[in-house]
Amino acid sequence: MKVALLDSGIGGWSFLTKIEARYPEHTYLYYADQKNCPYGNKTLQELENIACEWIALFKDEEIDILILACNTLTAIFKEKFQTELNIPVIGTTDGLENNEYKEKEIVLLATVKTAQSGWYERIFTNSKLSMVGNTWLAATIEERFALTDIESELLKLEVENVAGNEWDAMILGCTHYPLIKEQLKKIWPRKHFIDPAETIVDKLAMFLTRKEVNNNVIMYTSGDLALLEEQVRSFFDEKKQKKISSAKIRQTEGGLI
Ligand code: DGL
Repeated sequence: MKVALLDSGIGGWSFLTKIEARYPEHTYLYYADQKNCPYGNKTLQELENIACEWIALFKDEEIDILILACNTLTAIFKEKFQTELNIPVIGTTDGLENNEYKEKEIVLLATVKTAQSGWYERIFTNSKLSMVGNTWLAATIEERFALTDIESELLKLEVENVAGNEWDAMILGCTHYPLIKEQLKKIWPRKHFIDPAETIVDKLAMFLTRKEVNNNVIMYTSGDLALLEEQVRSFFDEKKQKKISSAKIRQTEGGLI
């Protein structure tokens, strides 16, 4: 089957790697809107224009399922994507729904737009949620997959200012964040991390029913193709790189993506 994944950049690779490892017999089309990255600091109107362009583009593509590998799009536009497209649309939080979370105090670390959306409060109803809307983390990870010591310290302080130190777990509420999970564990060695990328895999079994022998990954970017190719080389091992091809996203009428 043809599985499309969409994110503002390479954050959705935290989803792609886990999904492709479990269901290797499908074709994965990964769309990185790097021209518009980061999404999290944009206005709602700007994001709506971008979402409409994506919907128009996907209506023309032959895809079987769309995974919104972006919390910001999931939180604000999942219903819109699902209403307008005639294929299943999966959001980042679909694997989190109906789980029982025992942690009393949870920090949501996310983009500003996701933190403001109220989306996560629907899922974690039994816990006290502290919202940390971060303006710079996704863009930093997009640039270099790592934080400097000063950035780690700054992030720690940002979380502390909102949530103190007594919380139990942190939701990685932006798909870019699991890409630096090892660094986050060093900042908060005794805390539990809730990674939506880990919970989505089981959920997909009911959709990826038609087995095929294809196993290609095609990366599309709205930004600089050479940069995307460089990111692929630094993130994926050589064996994986052989399966990956990349291309520019075709120009849309509005020219936003
Ligand atoms: N990775 C995306 C998310 O999960 C978007 C980050 C951004 O572009 O601000 O929200």
